[in-house]
Amino acid sequence: MLNKLSFKIGLLFFLFIVIIEFILFLILYINLADDRVEEVMNSLLARGNTHRDVLEDHFDQSTLDHVGIMESVSEFVVVITDEKGEMLISSDPVEDEMIDVIHNTNNREIDSDGKIVEDRWSEVNYIATNSPMTINGEHKGHVFMFVHTEYVKRTVDQLKSQFVLAGVITIALTIVTIFILSRLIAQPLIKMKEATEQLSQGKHHVELHTERKDELGELANAITKLAKDLKELKMARNEFLASISHELRTPLTYIKGYAEIINRQDSTKDQIKEYAEIIREETEQLTILIKNLFALAKIDQNNFVIKRERIAICEIISNVAHLIQPVLSERKIVLNVNCPNDITAFVDPERLQQVFINVLDNAIHHSNEGSDILLNVIETEQDVVVTVTDHGEGIPSEDVPYIFDRLYRVEKSRSRQSGGSGLGLAITKEIIESHGGSIEMKSQQGKGTSVIIKLARGERHA
Ligand SMILES: Nc1ncnc2c1ncn2[C@@H]1O[C@H](COP(=O)(O)OP(=O)(O)OP(=O)(O)O)[C@@H](O)[C@H]1O
Ligand SMILES: [Mg+2]
Repeated sequence: MLNKLSFKIGLLFFLFIVIIEFILFLILYINLADDRVEEVMNSLLARGNTHRDVLEDHFDQSTLDHVGIMESVSEFVVVITDEKGEMLISSDPVEDEMIDVIHNTNNREIDSDGKIVEDRWSEVNYIATNSPMTINGEHKGHVFMFVHTEYVKRTVDQLKSQFVLAGVITIALTIVTIFILSRLIAQPLIKMKEATEQLSQGKHHVELHTERKDELGELANAITKLAKDLKELKMARNEFLASISHELRTPLTYIKGYAEIINRQDSTKDQIKEYAEIIREETEQLTILIKNLFALAKIDQNNFVIKRERIAICEIISNVAHLIQPVLSERKIVLNVNCPNDITAFVDPERLQQVFINVLDNAIHHSNEGSDILLNVIETEQDVVVTVTDHGEGIPSEDVPYIFDRLYRVEKSRSRQSGGSGLGLAITKEIIESHGGSIEMKSQQGKGTSVIIKLARGERHA
């Protein structure tokens, strides 16, 4: 629970929001409380001033009494003194604190608008104002107004309880909002976690809401795609393993069969020689198959290193032509190479040599004796394009899409004449693609085949 993302996000949000709310509320509270206190004090002063105005108009005993009676029923206390500070009347019993205020007030300091003479509402019992009376230019006395600080405190307390209520409501709303928000974020994450757990258990069917347009939606999409890819990969691997075991089983069956015949008592010497030769050929093919499989496995491991250099492509091609010359002569096939000397490419020469050998080897094997093969190199704006065209048997159009698949052969039977491993083109494609290039095949059955290889071009030779 404490480690849950939703909880962590929620707690963090909560703390932030509560701190921000607390600071804002505190500022607001202090300002409002100050305003309220000031309001109380000003209204006290205004009240005193009003009494003073009345007394200035009618300064007689009955008016004085009248003012006293009026304030005796209010929350306020009025004390009226003469010019010497002697008390004339008071509305309520006069407490010591009031007498202190009256005696300690320097009456000269106070102008005709009156003054708040005690404002320490949180420390003393009464706050007080003083409104001086002047009749016909003659100083006549003072109207002191008092109000118990309880009255002020009550006002502030009211404000406080309103703030507490508002705070509680805000915090409750914050909690609800955070709860909803964190669920909104955490819930899809939990779903995705479960989906990936299922994936690792081998269940490839994941159901995630991928229609969200935010990062969570992107993540869900990525996981769904991963699940699909993983499923395809597994299927491809299973297929590939099945094919390999088939590929291995066929020659091994031959080898076993011929070995048994050799072992029979009635085999002639010639037969033994012939069958031993077949066994040797099959073993050789198996060795090549395993070597090719190993090459592919190495490419798949991602630690397949290509050592690129800028090299004249014709150099590689003439090397290959030289290498395959014996086979060409044997089959009476002519290889025409058309390669402008100055074309360079940025490639790994050893790997590229392998590519040309594979492609030319196919062309030779699927051409008739006496025909010709054309190898053409041209340069376009971005690429070097190598085309190998033969006039051999061609490939049926339904096989062309699969021709680069591992172990795919048009001729399914592994007859020893046509018997390649079906890995040559798969390896070729991997090498070309790891160079950032592309390879495609165009073929017409009965007419011939073209392999088109595109590679990034190097700079021209000077
Ligand atoms: N130039 C071509 N003309 C006709 N068919 C071709 C040509 N090149 C390839 N093919 C067909 O494509 C298949 C796959 O070729 P690939 O080079 O991958 O395997 P392979 O030649 O059978 O065996 P390997 O190259 O591993 O010894 C071949 O078996 C063949 O049927
Ligand atoms: Mg081949």
